[in-house]
Amino acid sequence: MPPLSRPPRETRALFRNAGAALPTRHAALLERCVERRLRGPAQVLSGHHNTNHVLRLGLLPAVLVGAVPFARLKYRVPRETVEVVPRIWPREWDVLRVVCRFLPEVPRCLAVLGDNHSLHVYRGGTVLSDRGPHGRIGEGLMRQFAAFFARTAGIPAGELPPLPEDWPADGDSDGFLRRLVRFTEERVHRPHRPRFGTLFDAVGIPEDAMARFLRGLHPLTPRPFALLHTDVHRANVVVRRNRIAVIDWELALFGDPLHDLATHLVRMGYDKEEQARMTALWAEAMTRAGRAELTAALHDDLGAYLAFEYAQSVYPDVLRAALALPPHATADDFHAAAHRIGHALSRAREPLRLVDVPPEPHLIDALRHWHDAQNNPATPR
Ligand SMILES: Nc1ncnc2c1ncn2[C@@H]1O[C@H](COP(=O)(O)OP(=O)(O)O)[C@@H](O)[C@H]1O
Ligand SMILES: [Mg+2]
Repeated sequence: MPPLSRPPRETRALFRNAGAALPTRHAALLERCVERRLRGPAQVLSGHHNTNHVLRLGLLPAVLVGAVPFARLKYRVPRETVEVVPRIWPREWDVLRVVCRFLPEVPRCLAVLGDNHSLHVYRGGTVLSDRGPHGRIGEGLMRQFAAFFARTAGIPAGELPPLPEDWPADGDSDGFLRRLVRFTEERVHRPHRPRFGTLFDAVGIPEDAMARFLRGLHPLTPRPFALLHTDVHRANVVVRRNRIAVIDWELALFGDPLHDLATHLVRMGYDKEEQARMTALWAEAMTRAGRAELTAALHDDLGAYLAFEYAQSVYPDVLRAALALPPHATADDFHAAAHRIGHALSRAREPLRLVDVPPEPHLIDALRHWHDAQNNPATPR
């Protein structure tokens, strides 16, 4: 567990409820309380990006941050992680401050400690992924997801934190998707080539994969931009009394709403029939919310975002599969990693115009080769 950092005084501002700063002495008291709780037994929930400690605060520190005394809270500590998607708002709490005003079921950020540790309300319930990684979720939950997307898209753009200066202009759907492609090429593929290039090549990802994807892309119809969560999958959804709350807003973007729908359709593991049903419910919910313009050319353009989701995910899938191999990887470890890569490649086959996906023994060989070179740098490649 990383120790709590002691940031310089001026950065020790704490945001209470909607964002008012707490006096430094209260900040120090809160830090001490959290440190003490972290030394005791605490439930730890890990995702790709953060380690979350579930803890409770006593009367005084809880009141300081506007929490219910002794209720469960979530203390969120960022992990060192492979950056695979763009982040336009580096501080999740800036986004949550707005989102929670419009979506009251989303757990609030109560305080920020140091530069980037944060304390959140913990929402009791079941994480949807705990019911299993696959399987139908039913019409009721799908309708709630559709309503969630419409409510999120309804959050006024003027309330959101400022955008990067060079962000595509509102409605430039084409520029938005191209921006995502550029990120994958420049910030995911290229920086990882020195370490993973031989593996990318050996499993059959063409070096110009993103250029191939762009060649297959038709010009997109302009759609107004909206706030997007971009990562609505089972592990980011807490269900309580059959009502959903979507957590984990750090990858939120402002862009073409079809991107949010596409990542949801793919990452939920819906089958074809459910994908079609979810798309229809999404369009209905947007129209009912008076935002029919967000559904413009839905059926022509959704495919482009689905294809991008499959194409870009070959990089994180290969990286994560390779990095998950322990130094003394067993045959089972290689088999599991190869299976994961094979699955990612077969989904990306069309968008990346791959001729064919190498058979599993070939993928295992590629992984073994890469793994040997990593653990034994002197081995000739
Ligand atoms: N409020 C919560 N209630 C229940 N489980 C939670 C809650 N917050 C997080 N979790 C669990 O912790 C995991 C990681 O939390 P999350 O906020 O999604 O972090 P990450 O950014 O690392 O994905 C979630 O996938 C979920 O299983
Ligand atoms: Mg998560």
